[in-house]
Amino acid sequence: MPKVTFMPDSVTIDVAQNENLLRAAMMADVRVTASCGGDGTCGKCRMVVERGSVKAKPSARLTEAQVAEGYVLGCTAEVTGDVVVRIPPESRPGSAPRARSVRIPNPVISTDEQAERVPDKRAHPPVSKRFVKVSEPDHADNASDLSRVKTALRRAYHLKDVEVTIEAARELPSAIREGGWSVTATIMEINAHKCLITGFQPGDTTGRQFAVAVDIGTTTIEVAIVDLASRETVAQATEYNAQVDRGEDVITRIIASTRPGGLEELQHLVSRTVSHLATSLLEEHRIDIEDVVVYIAAGNTVMTHLLLDITPEAIRTSPYVPAATAFPPIEARSVGLPGTHSTYLITMPCPASWLGGDIVAGVVAAGIPWSDKLTLFVDVGTNGEIVLGGKDFLVACSCSAGPAFEGGGITHGMRAAEGAVELVRIDPDTFEPMIITIGNVKPLGICGSGLIDGVSELFLSGAIDRSGKFTTDTGSARIRRGEHGHEYVLVHAEESGTGGDIVLTETDIENLMRAKAAIFAGINVLVESLDLTLDAIEEIVVAGGFGHYLDLERVMALGMFPELPTEHFAFLGNSSLSGARLAAASRKMLEKTSRVAEAMTYLELSVNAGFMEMYTSSLFLPHTDLSLFPKTEELLASRLAEKVT
Ligand code: FES
Repeated sequence: MPKVTFMPDSVTIDVAQNENLLRAAMMADVRVTASCGGDGTCGKCRMVVERGSVKAKPSARLTEAQVAEGYVLGCTAEVTGDVVVRIPPESRPGSAPRARSVRIPNPVISTDEQAERVPDKRAHPPVSKRFVKVSEPDHADNASDLSRVKTALRRAYHLKDVEVTIEAARELPSAIREGGWSVTATIMEINAHKCLITGFQPGDTTGRQFAVAVDIGTTTIEVAIVDLASRETVAQATEYNAQVDRGEDVITRIIASTRPGGLEELQHLVSRTVSHLATSLLEEHRIDIEDVVVYIAAGNTVMTHLLLDITPEAIRTSPYVPAATAFPPIEARSVGLPGTHSTYLITMPCPASWLGGDIVAGVVAAGIPWSDKLTLFVDVGTNGEIVLGGKDFLVACSCSAGPAFEGGGITHGMRAAEGAVELVRIDPDTFEPMIITIGNVKPLGICGSGLIDGVSELFLSGAIDRSGKFTTDTGSARIRRGEHGHEYVLVHAEESGTGGDIVLTETDIENLMRAKAAIFAGINVLVESLDLTLDAIEEIVVAGGFGHYLDLERVMALGMFPELPTEHFAFLGNSSLSGARLAAASRKMLEKTSRVAEAMTYLELSVNAGFMEMYTSSLFLPHTDLSLFPKTEELLASRLAEKVT
């Protein structure tokens, strides 16, 4: 990994090859003025390369003489090897550099590590193509087409109980003759003993077989195309769930589904989003829909019901029961998804009304059911779902976090897409921000990790107090009275991609505080249910749409996660999609999800007095009881001391 040393701070940080130089500075907590999101237009993030070299784009913001002296714009420069960089005074907001602790990059669970955590992932896919060659019938051997294919399949692949759908039986005669007595069968393995042939194609088409893995999120839907021949993901894309217009959370969706025609409409909207994503990716990669053998979808219980056109009505009212917790495979096109009669849809089991297949998929993808460590799994999304356990037991709960982490319900919130502010640093002396956006373009809004960073920086810089209210005597024009109370101007209109100011309001901060309080309270309830304390947790796997750049020190300062050593944390990204991909590639993984769903013990927080008590105490930064957050207390004290000196 290349090392970047920033002078005069004398801070060195390891970064990935080709990391953006401005991002490296932000991760190292080195202050640099940067206000255009990394778009290269404000010209403020100047740095001087003193040793080593970087790959920098030419910029009209730099004179020839400056370029000759080694000046680059940090946001348009990539680190290609060890380098020493000086931050000139004109690029430095506020006062001189100060001592700091440099964060290490978040430990993201790599594909290789995931393979180690998850055994059996190379087993055969649950739905796949199998090729057979059969002898041509004659008077001496006049067995039916189907019977000779079944016999060949049993012999070649040791398949036992082989059934066939009527649609597959209809297409067999022409397929087998067109293929010169060789044919490819699409086979769904119901279990180790039983399988179902869902379609036939002439000749050998086993080199072209694909699965569509789907994460059906309440706010966003993500789709991956998996090549079942190589088990590799060939394409992936995400977009907002089209149901968002009918309500931001699952409760409003359930209510919408009970209106006349509501269920049909919501079903149509979710399948339309999945179809749009899948069709675009398949077209882009020239994959024929006939070669898509299965969709594997993981979603929360309400989303799963809506996709399958099952009313989720009873989930909303006590005693909160779903219509079903496990669902049979169905023809994908019966719910509006593109495919042929042989393309099936398999949905992950949902253990409880508020604990869905997305969490089951995530827990499996994190390898927790095989782990000896006491592991806490937290999926940070519209609902905060939390699971605690390991190979011997799993307890789980779910709390409503609201859509803030996905950019919903925030004045200038947006999902984590190009133009979203994802990293924020605020100078505690001048309250001037440094920001960088996804894609290094002009800022359009703030995504979940930008919001966490922004609020945490406002708190640590003293711009807001422990109740999330702005301190109004800072003298900074960035803190002003807006239409709905006080707000902080993160990006001025002239530097934004929207032409308007991008602000963080007190209401945005309150929304984030409610979300983080729900998660922290949920974690406590689970730990206490096992008569344990927070320090018994050996690993925390954080799932959800957070990037690699989320600063754990800042997240803990908000009071969202317990203060544990940062090496206890691991980030898994969209674990629901990872689990769906694994299940698409391995029947054993799919079977494991069923066993995990059956084994999870669900704790209902709405009837848990301890949860409400802890939630109320957590509606402060980081918490009413600062002794739970000793490192943050220390950090606040040192920041205060720095300000005084
Ligand atoms: Fe680099 Fe604006 S030019 S942040």
